[in-house]
Amino acid sequence: MPSALTDLCRYPIVQAPMAGGGSGPELAAAVCGAGGLGFLAAGYKTADGMYQEIKQLRSLTDRPFGVNLFMPQPSLADHSAVEAYREQLAGEATWYETELGDTDEPTDDGYEAKLAILREDPVPVVSFTFGCPSRAVLDAFARVGTYTIVTATTAAEAQAAQWSGADAVCVQGVEAGGHQGTHRDDPHADGTGAGLGLLALLGQVREAVQIPVIAAGGLMRGAQIAAVLAAGATMAQLGTAFLATPESGANPLHKQALTNPLFTHTELTRAFSGRPARGLVNRFMREHGPYAPAAYPAVHYLTSTVRKAAAKAGDAQGLNLWAGQGHRLARELPAARLVEVLAAELDAARAGLGLTGSTESGDGRTGPGDAPAAGGAA
Ligand SMILES: Cc1cc2nc3c(=O)[nH]c(=O)nc-3n(C[C@H](O)[C@H](O)[C@H](O)COP(=O)(O)O)c2cc1C
Repeated sequence: MPSALTDLCRYPIVQAPMAGGGSGPELAAAVCGAGGLGFLAAGYKTADGMYQEIKQLRSLTDRPFGVNLFMPQPSLADHSAVEAYREQLAGEATWYETELGDTDEPTDDGYEAKLAILREDPVPVVSFTFGCPSRAVLDAFARVGTYTIVTATTAAEAQAAQWSGADAVCVQGVEAGGHQGTHRDDPHADGTGAGLGLLALLGQVREAVQIPVIAAGGLMRGAQIAAVLAAGATMAQLGTAFLATPESGANPLHKQALTNPLFTHTELTRAFSGRPARGLVNRFMREHGPYAPAAYPAVHYLTSTVRKAAAKAGDAQGLNLWAGQGHRLARELPAARLVEVLAAELDAARAGLGLTGSTESGDGRTGPGDAPAAGGAA
């Protein structure tokens, strides 16, 4: 296992895993090749689909990379809210000339089968979202030399990750695009944004745990990466910034919407999946967000046919346009170039802050590294 997360790549820049087609082997290989840490997203894929992508990525790069897994979700005790939502979405299905999706899909995202593959044929890094794996799972990865990361949206979740034996925690601020990786979705919360902003959360997590922290949420420029490193993060994880690159597999409608002035802002919504996720506000979100039930992944499967049909019709108003609060700053650069530009901006910002040392990781840089938080209480 690498002694530190920063030994895995040249720059402290992680390309976020993006399920739904955003981050496939092409994007991850470009990022890894340029000195960042690329990720594959196994979420919504079959175990075999995940494995095929791993093999493809290995054929494209010999650099370390990560694979991201969704934690299994509790089965839905009460289907009535989903059935009520189905009725409310009937007009969408008619409009896009499709049927609503089947909600009887499994809630475990093939977790055990994916774990079995990753233990049998280990990859350098595995990260988890929507929960914290058991100590047994994390220990098994440690034994095969895989570095583990657990996403956290609160200090308590970060502590759970540390107690369970994760090597690092990915702290996700409320600014982040896509789903919040909250360990347990509270059905009584409205899901539209009680979470902490990244800097506030990072400060709390740094004092709550001793393991390295990766910062995610709204980061689009090297100067912002410098800010989170100065605040104690070891690396920065960017999703929306990489979504706009040609190597990202996101739908072109989604890519164009990121910088289209018609889309003025983002919000958290349960409208598309049943779990809070941040996306550009569009018609579907405005109309259905206010009463969408807390029923992930049933709602994800329910709306999947409508989302596909909207994409086919070229209608961005019916799609989940996941994006972080920084979306307006997205640049359509090739992914490798984006990594280089971010690294150069980071260097310039660090020089401006009077921080000496190179942006490059694993070189004993003078900025915050993997050192435990001073005075941190586990
Ligand atoms: C389109 C999209 C899909 C995402 N899918 C995943 C995922 O599969 N697993 C995961 O851990 N995080 C996922 N995320 C969240 C990212 O890991 C990260 O927290 C987020 O992108 C950071 O905020 P930013 O988009 O403002 O950079 C996704 C984000 C986006 C934008």
